[in-house]
Amino acid sequence: MKIGIAGKGGVGKTTLAALICWALKDAGLDVLAVDADPDANLGSALGFPKAQEITPIVEMKELIHERMGVSEDNPGFFKLNPKIDDIPDRFLKVHGGIKLIVMGTIKGGNTGCACPENTFLKRLLHQITLRDNEHIVVDFEAGVEHLGRGTADKFDRLIIVVEPSTLSIESAKRIYPLAKDIGIKNISLVANRIASDSDINFIASRLDTAGLLGVVHFSDNCKSANQRGDWESLKKDKVYTEIKEVVEKLLTK
Ligand SMILES: Nc1ncnc2c1ncn2[C@@H]1O[C@H](COP(=O)(O)OP(=O)(O)OP(=O)(O)O)[C@@H](O)[C@H]1O
Ligand SMILES: [Mg+2]
Repeated sequence: MKIGIAGKGGVGKTTLAALICWALKDAGLDVLAVDADPDANLGSALGFPKAQEITPIVEMKELIHERMGVSEDNPGFFKLNPKIDDIPDRFLKVHGGIKLIVMGTIKGGNTGCACPENTFLKRLLHQITLRDNEHIVVDFEAGVEHLGRGTADKFDRLIIVVEPSTLSIESAKRIYPLAKDIGIKNISLVANRIASDSDINFIASRLDTAGLLGVVHFSDNCKSANQRGDWESLKKDKVYTEIKEVVEKLLTK
């Protein structure tokens, strides 16, 4: 299964993406985590040592130019179908049995540009294929841009994380039709940072909760795990039990 995690900035996408990776791993499955957020921090959340020093794929200019067929004589032309199938294997890092690739971003440029790097990233995200028993979890950047750019199609599922706030609900409402338009059939919601029933009611009064896959309650341990840089301690927290229920549904529904 190829699962994307989307939602407004700060709703808990990366935290939940890490917890989902661990839950899949604990269920005996292989996991490839993909950090597709330019402000990459999934590696840190997954406890990768020196995560901030992992070179994002987009910074491997030589490799990209070689694969895209870009030359000094012909800088404006490049292949639309570069060979990418060996890339994940060559550039992934592994920690705690979880594989990670960091996509990175085009610095200073227009992220919607038709430059070789952007086309390469798009292809890569598009064409990363599942191996037996493997699940891919992609932590997207906040907002909707990745959906408009066509990097999110070919996903089996999209999880939109919402919290009980008007802005995150507005964002979910923008993400949903875009995800539908690009053909993602299975779009669900996970409500995060829920402190009370009234938070659930707030969300239910503004969004169709038919696709609500699960609820993750507010936990003070998220803050302390974040401050200590020890997200793995959340495996002992109720948020992990709740995410495991979400993952069970993902695997069976
Ligand atoms: N269930 C929760 N209870 C309490 N705090 C939470 C919960 N989930 C996430 N948080 C906290 O919310 C903050 C934002 O979380 P996170 O970085 O995962 O969000 P994000 O959506 O990935 O943000 P960004 O859009 O910047 O990438 C963090 O401090 C995290 O510890
Ligand atoms: Mg994040």
